[in-house]
Amino acid sequence: MSGLRKRRAAVLISGRGSNMLSLIEAAEAPDYPAEIVAVISNRADAAGLSRAAAAGIATAALDHRAFPDRPSFDAELDRLLRAHGAEIVVLAGFLRILTDGFVRAWEGRMINIHPSLLPAYKGLHTHERALADGATQHGCTVHHVVAELDSGPIIAQAAVPVLPGDTPETLGRRVLAEEHRLFPAALADLARTLPGAEPAS
Ligand code: GAR
Repeated sequence: MSGLRKRRAAVLISGRGSNMLSLIEAAEAPDYPAEIVAVISNRADAAGLSRAAAAGIATAALDHRAFPDRPSFDAELDRLLRAHGAEIVVLAGFLRILTDGFVRAWEGRMINIHPSLLPAYKGLHTHERALADGATQHGCTVHHVVAELDSGPIIAQAAVPVLPGDTPETLGRRVLAEEHRLFPAALADLARTLPGAEPAS
């Protein structure tokens, strides 16, 4: 493979890390345009941390409860990301609100996956809410992160049907399978088109 410089992506998680794993696996392909340089969790007990370590990826736990406020947590997160030379930040089930300053610094370089067809069902419990509404379609969205929650420009979406007898679990599994396909493809698109090497300081 000639001339491919893999862009350096860090993944932020809070839990099991199945999307993170789909990114790590995709990035193992020689022609994938990004490499996963670190996985950082705000919870030390996140199952995804050991899954990342088992895949040979550098990991860090940054317990938000050890910081007096959001800006000080975000400042340390920013420092850690830069120490790893991250050019792209990927939120993969990172269930923590980021400050406007942090979001601005990484704008255009930070993406999130959300388990709904945005703008429908921002926030939590998306599968329950889609079922309660009698929705016939549901899905997932990868979007740029902006200050307002689940509201940035959409990069890619995948839809699944809602089937008779679906529960939040069966519907959630169908959506998650699409997340695992969509997220690596969206990260690859961003990595291929990302201008410049450095995030704003
Ligand atoms: C995923 O379904 C992701 O879309 C969702 O959390 C789950 C994390 O699972 N994210 C959000 O709800 C963000 N608002 P994972 O840890 O197995 O990837």
